[in-house]
Amino acid sequence: MTQTLTIPRPDDWHLHLRDGAMLAGIAPESARHFARAIIMPNLVPPVVTGADAAAYHGRIRAVTGAGFTPLMTLYLTEATDPADLVAAHAQGIITAVKLYPAGATTNSASGVRDFDRMRPVFEAMAEAGIPLLCHGEVTDPEIDIFDREAVFIDRVLDPIRRRTPALRVVMEHITTADAVAYVHSQPENLGATITTHHLVINRNHILVGGIKPHYYCLPVAKRETHRQALLSAATSGDARFFLGTDSAPHTDDAKESACGCAGCFTATNTMSILAQVFDDAGALDKLEGFASRNGPGFYRLPVNEGTLTLEKTDTPVIYPAKIETGAGPVTVFDPGFPLYWRVL
Ligand code: NCD
Ligand code: ZN
Repeated sequence: MTQTLTIPRPDDWHLHLRDGAMLAGIAPESARHFARAIIMPNLVPPVVTGADAAAYHGRIRAVTGAGFTPLMTLYLTEATDPADLVAAHAQGIITAVKLYPAGATTNSASGVRDFDRMRPVFEAMAEAGIPLLCHGEVTDPEIDIFDREAVFIDRVLDPIRRRTPALRVVMEHITTADAVAYVHSQPENLGATITTHHLVINRNHILVGGIKPHYYCLPVAKRETHRQALLSAATSGDARFFLGTDSAPHTDDAKESACGCAGCFTATNTMSILAQVFDDAGALDKLEGFASRNGPGFYRLPVNEGTLTLEKTDTPVIYPAKIETGAGPVTVFDPGFPLYWRVL
């Protein structure tokens, strides 16, 4: 008997769609399965004003059509005007605001250096109920790259939460047991997204047997105990953990380089991989919460009315190795194990 799983249409609570030819080439990969996505604002130049976000929304919709809803975010800088941000939210142009520590990741040069200076913005956001989405890594050169998330929690995030306890915060793409424990220690207004690839790879996948640029992303995958903690959180049914793929396309020449870009592109096969991972963990019944219900719950949005059905097959499902875009080829994330679940 064929096994199927039908869930409300999922959403992606952390997605990079880029712009121009790359946007045109890769946005359909997300729109095929996801109803909505939180769109990252780290374009060059970044999406910093309500007007920028409205224009970018239009460019995304021109590619995907109305069947896909991009939920826009603003890129927080030390020059952000709290009034513009609150107005953009009140007008329904933006859903959330993204905090990049300056220099933490791809296109984050305009991010925040002095977190204390952001206090008036955080207070305005708390008042208006606008979620703050954190790229949770410090950038101090003396901090080891594998410790940067844990140190961010202690030095940056926890102080922000103590000073502005009403601020709603999402810890984006968490990669450590420390982050899972921090979510557990906090009240309901703190949530966390987990990517597909961090449920699959640990740092050995990147470094053992030759360097694998397509597994390099930020925050970088940690040791296996951390992957296990993420898997436990994602499959636990705890409503504060939800899917944010962080699907982040770069062309192959930018990835396969002496200084390769960070980002894994998982939009194409994410739902198949997740079904396989949850099935293998004996937690298929928890996929619906993780991919379709917990995110809307945190963001105070309705669960999607449409559905997505997955079917377990006898032979592995083959996805394209690359998506050809006008900007160049983009390699699709390879989980390294066969996928028996396909989206119908
Ligand atoms: C993202 C990108 O390429 O924009 N890269 C990544 O490794 N995740 C940026 C980010 O989310 O950190
Ligand atoms: Zn990202």
